[in-house]
Amino acid sequence: MSYVSDFMKLNCSSDVLDICHIDKSRMNKEISETMGLYKQVKNIVINKPYKDWIILDICSGAHCLNSVFISHMLNVKVYAIDIEPCKRDFSSVRNMEYIQFDIMKFFKFLDMIREKVGYDENVIIVSSHPCRELAHQIVNFHKTGLSEYMFIIPCCRGIIKNHIPQLVKDKLGRYLTWCYDLSLSRYGDLVRDKRIMSPCNVIVRSL
Ligand SMILES: C[S@@+](CC[C@H](N)C(=O)[O-])C[C@H]1O[C@@H](n2cnc3c(N)ncnc32)[C@H](O)[C@@H]1O
Repeated sequence: MSYVSDFMKLNCSSDVLDICHIDKSRMNKEISETMGLYKQVKNIVINKPYKDWIILDICSGAHCLNSVFISHMLNVKVYAIDIEPCKRDFSSVRNMEYIQFDIMKFFKFLDMIREKVGYDENVIIVSSHPCRELAHQIVNFHKTGLSEYMFIIPCCRGIIKNHIPQLVKDKLGRYLTWCYDLSLSRYGDLVRDKRIMSPCNVIVRSL
């Protein structure tokens, strides 16, 4: 069963699509990426339902699909964060707040989030397609202890920070080398989710 048909069967799917206005040509890709991240988050939230979770959807993009969708879970509050101003009205979305912020301002970002969430331990970072250095920046946030869990679907490759032998790089190819580099920066794990309808279908996740 595809992620798109799984999504369409959910009660919240038409609400989510109404609010997010996704381009039809990108719909399947976007929905499958969102479902891939959602599945990871759900595994954690369902196993610890007594907790109130805070999700940081970093580089959420204009339509905030991940954020809107995940905010339909009962015990989560989502902060959608992007450098661009908010172009849609998310006021009807329960448990979600949009924050316009440049995440390259590392310490300012940490201060801003700490002000919002305090030193809460129940923070999960999600990010789909943070380009290049943004991905390392997100891993660095996780490394500070800001979040308990982190899930990233990387896309465009940035500067490789860790030593990876050339032979391994050659075997992995460009995209997997980039994902592997991100995972090495935080003892992370790599999973390929073949139900994500994009060549960028690897999830870097914290262990
Ligand atoms: C490739 S898009 C991914 C959007 C969305 N997550 C998705 O999967 O469709 C990358 C996003 O990163 C945002 N971005 C770029 N530089 C940023 C920065 N310095 N701080 C925060 N967001 C940034 C862009 O505005 C854009 O929305």
